[in-house]
Amino acid sequence: MLLEMKGVEKRFGGVVALRGGALEVRPGEVHLVMGENGAGKSTMMKIIAGMYQRDGGDMRWRGESVHFANPVEAARVGIAMVHQESLLAPHLSVAENIFLGREIQGRFGMIDRAAMMEKARRLIGEHKFPLQAEWRVDRLSPAGKQLVEICRAIQNGTSLLIFDEPTSSLSEAETHEVFKIVRTLRDRGTGVIYITHRMEELRSIGDRVTVLRDGETVHSEAMATLTTASMIRYMVGREVAALYHREPVPPGAEMLRVHNFCAPPSVRDVSLSVRAGEIVGLAGLIGAGRTELCRAIFGLDPAAHGGLWIEEKPARIRSPRDAVNAGLALIPEDRQKTGLARELPISWNVTMAGLDAISPFGVLRRQREGAITAAEIERLRIRCDTGAQKAGRLSGGNQQKVVISKWISRGARVFLFDEPTRGIDIGAKVEVFEVMDKLARNGAAILMVSSELPELLQVADRILVMRQGRIAGELPGRTTQEEIMRLATLESPETQLQ
Ligand SMILES: Nc1ncnc2c1ncn2[C@@H]1O[C@H](COP(=O)(O)OP(=O)(O)OP(=O)(O)O)[C@@H](O)[C@H]1O
Ligand SMILES: [Mg+2]
Repeated sequence: MLLEMKGVEKRFGGVVALRGGALEVRPGEVHLVMGENGAGKSTMMKIIAGMYQRDGGDMRWRGESVHFANPVEAARVGIAMVHQESLLAPHLSVAENIFLGREIQGRFGMIDRAAMMEKARRLIGEHKFPLQAEWRVDRLSPAGKQLVEICRAIQNGTSLLIFDEPTSSLSEAETHEVFKIVRTLRDRGTGVIYITHRMEELRSIGDRVTVLRDGETVHSEAMATLTTASMIRYMVGREVAALYHREPVPPGAEMLRVHNFCAPPSVRDVSLSVRAGEIVGLAGLIGAGRTELCRAIFGLDPAAHGGLWIEEKPARIRSPRDAVNAGLALIPEDRQKTGLARELPISWNVTMAGLDAISPFGVLRRQREGAITAAEIERLRIRCDTGAQKAGRLSGGNQQKVVISKWISRGARVFLFDEPTRGIDIGAKVEVFEVMDKLARNGAAILMVSSELPELLQVADRILVMRQGRIAGELPGRTTQEEIMRLATLESPETQLQ
């Protein structure tokens, strides 16, 4: 046995994040840790990796009781972790981040930059990651940062490697590469702990599963004998349909039209239209220009140009303020960076976009704010004590839910959802889809970017596929993953993450 945890506890003030964490990891196995948003997965991993210290319980490493005071101590015995939130140094290069804290030294103890660049290049090239060693990290997309974290974690002899949702922002191709890395490590005898909310990944990667619910380990079993239905039951504690099915609504007026729309260099000559009641999917590989298109429509790209109509009237959108006034909402991809006020309460985050809507004169604002927050916490099952907690203290998935509810409580007419279910647990995904369906039924138009093809197929009325900045084709909602991939990859994609 590599790692054994029993009865592990962790409290943050009054919040009990973990109260009975148990886990056993053997060398050469891929161990999935599953559970709803806020179940305590990341907390448990951070205890293993020495970022947090446990308040109680036992943790053994190769049979001996251990206490890691910091990540360096955990690294010393061979534990590395790829974090859910990027912990990279934003102003440094990709190569510098990969070797941060263990820079290669040349003669006289000077840092050997050339050697570091060279080694980083080799590492990136070996896995065909669309990165350049000299790029600055703060200019990378979430996917790019994730790949840098992975390079950082896999570079030296590790006995236990923890992946906390490594693929949540990655495309198919990159996900396959990560799987390849995981399998290679496993075959070399490394123990791997893997966390994901993507159901379709589980079977192809996991050997064993441990399920956490409300801070407690409730089950552990070999993947081969565990059915998907019982896995979900252990996680959620109730029956949940793994599949969502949406009844389309007859489309109404045209709510959004873009014509020959360009946002150099990522978006070229895009024309599309979304009608009231429609959910239109936007598929494509990373770097195909989907996020850039949404950002440009929302007024975030000053260089964007082309025709734009909202509710059949020509619109001039030069800033997000114009966009909001025109009835647009953008649920951004990088919610850690742009969507959330981490230091402010959940209630402020949920209602901030809609404060005017709540009360133009500020009267009754507090009361309404409380009521709206409570309703949203209930609807999306946001795991917290009260709406007064700081949003930045929530678990990763619960932060995502806060950003989503912030925009839906505002009452926009055209929604641009960029990877809306990223990092969100299985129970809440269905809630998010139901919210989208309800918006559409009430006459909103929705454009939804998603790399989760099974989800696009469940939710979208039709699917536009982007490739290299252009619309490569349109498919009906009832198409197949293969058809989408065929359109998305017709030529070799010049994927760029910067
Ligand atoms: N630093 C902190 N301060 C206060 N509360 C925290 C802190 N870190 C985690 N928590 C709380 O502990 C609980 C468990 O959080 P954790 O991040 O471990 O969940 P998770 O299972 O990783 O969820 P997700 O799937 O959303 O990433 C949550 O209720 C969270 O709000
Ligand atoms: Mg987490």
